[in-house]
Amino acid sequence: MKIQRLRGMHDLYGADALKFERMERVARGVFARFGFEELRTPLLEDKELFSRALGTDTDVVQKEMYEFTDRSKVRVAMRPEGTAGVVRAYLENEFDKREGLSKFYYMGAMFRSERPQAGRLRQFHQIGVEQLGIDSPYADAETIHALTVFLDEIGASGYKVKLNNLGTFEERKEYRTELAGYFTRHKDKLCEDCLERLERNVFRLLDCKVQSCREVAKDSPPIKNYLMPASRTHYDKVRKGLQDLGVAHTEDPFMVRGLDYYTLTVFELTHPKLGAQDAVAAGGRYDSLIAAFGGPPSGAVGFALGMERLAMCMEAPQVSDVSENSVFIVTLGEEAFTAGFKLMSQLRASGVCASMDLSSKSMKSQMRLADRTQSAFSIILGENELNSGRWVLKNMKVGSQETIDGADCVSLLQKRLGKR
Ligand code: HAM
Repeated sequence: MKIQRLRGMHDLYGADALKFERMERVARGVFARFGFEELRTPLLEDKELFSRALGTDTDVVQKEMYEFTDRSKVRVAMRPEGTAGVVRAYLENEFDKREGLSKFYYMGAMFRSERPQAGRLRQFHQIGVEQLGIDSPYADAETIHALTVFLDEIGASGYKVKLNNLGTFEERKEYRTELAGYFTRHKDKLCEDCLERLERNVFRLLDCKVQSCREVAKDSPPIKNYLMPASRTHYDKVRKGLQDLGVAHTEDPFMVRGLDYYTLTVFELTHPKLGAQDAVAAGGRYDSLIAAFGGPPSGAVGFALGMERLAMCMEAPQVSDVSENSVFIVTLGEEAFTAGFKLMSQLRASGVCASMDLSSKSMKSQMRLADRTQSAFSIILGENELNSGRWVLKNMKVGSQETIDGADCVSLLQKRLGKR
């Protein structure tokens, strides 16, 4: 039987791998400038962590988690997102008790057993940041700013920042009842999914993409009518902070999120290069989560960005720096092979990227390989070159050739490739 990759799970290579490498590099630089430090949490956690953090009625917990009972009979789940693990780590490592700010970034694979489509995978990758133990609305603005600076530096401009205020859990109670009443009165115009959502999570009806549901949602009572002054003030300050930082944004009163932990500010960044799944990143405030896991009553805010979706918004990267600065060694005959093999190691030890074909192919096919690797130079070594000590150095970009003193080869290439 032929074994294939699982549905919705991809191998990453070539241009996409280069894009991912670049995203990770730029993210580390940008987020360090904003004072975030890296936190790596396990891919596997107690399932209970996710059902309690994300909400038992959410699609992710109800239908999408990869969960199983492990050998020690613990019910575990592959992480569907990063926030829950960060909150657990924050409390378990007592970061809440230490001096200073708790600002973390993370990157890695997440797992959701969703129906695969463009921009929606079962194993996908996120880069996220979280600020914990902070209530200030300026932390919301700073978090969104960090995200936009990252997107600008990566070269994915053209995105739109959308913002909404979901209020507190308390404020949403009355709103939920009102909303359920409103949508029940328009039941006949709702899609199948929304009829189910009406029972489970009425807020999700607000962002249904089906036209007839949108028509109904358009005239539904807005959440802002149910917000108390403190929630309104928080939101106004987030908007002021964004203005101070020069982050353009629009308000979307119908934006809700698929995870239950959000309070007050929620945001989404969409990109025109994406299709139906157009959110490249999303996040918001989750002020009740830390206390729900036994920590102090303090707020938190963060976002996560989908790396596969961002890859779709980025320009194809140029040839990597590695191949641009590399040397390919072509040899003919056993003695030359040994000399080339040793030279390759000396070059690498002196900081030059070097490679050769180890399977003794013909000279022609070695040259073809040198071309394909897009090396900057090739060294050609045969019997004559070994005997005379004069080696052939070929500039692969312009095609010119020269003979050099074999003894100077390493220092010359170091100089030409700017390694010294
Ligand atoms: P989320 O909205 O579920 O939020 O996901 C954030 C981003 O991850 C999405 O905007 C999208 O780019 C990407 N994403 C989600 N699911 C998939 C998928 N199946 N395939 C490809 N990409 C996907 C969270 O995960 C929250 N933890 C964000 C957060 C952090 N909120 C506060 N802090």
